[in-house]
Amino acid sequence: MSEENNQTVIKIENVNLFYRKYQALFDISLEIPFNTVVAFIGASGCGKSSLLRCCNRLNDTIENCKITGKIFVDNQDIYLPTHNVLTLRKKVGMVFQKPVVFPFSIFDNVAYGVKIHKLHKNKADLINIVEDALQKTGLWDEIKDRLHDDAESLSGGQQQRLCIARTIAVKPEVILMDEPCSALDPIATAKVEALIKELKKQYAVVIVTHSMQQADRISDKTAFLNEGRVIEYDTTEKIFNDPNDPKTKDYIDGKFG
Ligand SMILES: Nc1ncnc2c1ncn2[C@@H]1O[C@H](COP(=O)(O)OP(=O)(O)O)[C@@H](O)[C@H]1O
Ligand SMILES: [Mg+2]
Repeated sequence: MSEENNQTVIKIENVNLFYRKYQALFDISLEIPFNTVVAFIGASGCGKSSLLRCCNRLNDTIENCKITGKIFVDNQDIYLPTHNVLTLRKKVGMVFQKPVVFPFSIFDNVAYGVKIHKLHKNKADLINIVEDALQKTGLWDEIKDRLHDDAESLSGGQQQRLCIARTIAVKPEVILMDEPCSALDPIATAKVEALIKELKKQYAVVIVTHSMQQADRISDKTAFLNEGRVIEYDTTEKIFNDPNDPKTKDYIDGKFG
């Protein structure tokens, strides 16, 4: 991918989300463009993770969670009963707060989704795909001599980059990240932030973050959520320097949250 492409990848239309009778999201509409980092910010409990999980139907796994409205990925309605959820989650990958490494080798962690989706032609091809993903996350040089070691032997920051490698190995279009640096030290955080800036050249990245500095450093667009509503969604520059809504300004100025 050479040219920058800011076409919409995910279109969220009038989404409401309920956990039993409790409404956690209210009438959310926003679009996620390609080749862009979008940050979701807002106080704890405002619905950032719930909204993120809507985008790859991860809320399906939560009992009593009900969603109304529509979400399109590549113009396809992902909540149609006929929509293939496995294919969706390949296209819209997710990285969590705590790195979720599987109890197998570094190599097998990265190869995991590739094997499930049968994206490799043969063993040599699989090895290439794994190396490529590890190169892209900057891990290759650090771990190329220990590919068959247990993934759990890696440091926390390396484990998180391994999870990102596993996600990009299946060639997604969007990477959702829910507070991906909150368990990492500042050096590991800087590495993941640099990686996110690289990733947007090939993917759309949506990141939930508690750190305003992080949102400001790495995102192009920011959505500010408050009590289940999107108060304002604009360029990060505008949100941080000249927000339209006083609630956004208060949050940015640290008056709550
Ligand atoms: N599985 C769940 N069951 C019931 N309520 C939930 C569940 N997950 C989140 N909530 C509630 O929904 C609201 C939004 O939560 P969440 O999306 O996790 O917010 P954030 O990520 O912004 O902290 C909160 O009030 C939270 O307690
Ligand atoms: Mg959350």
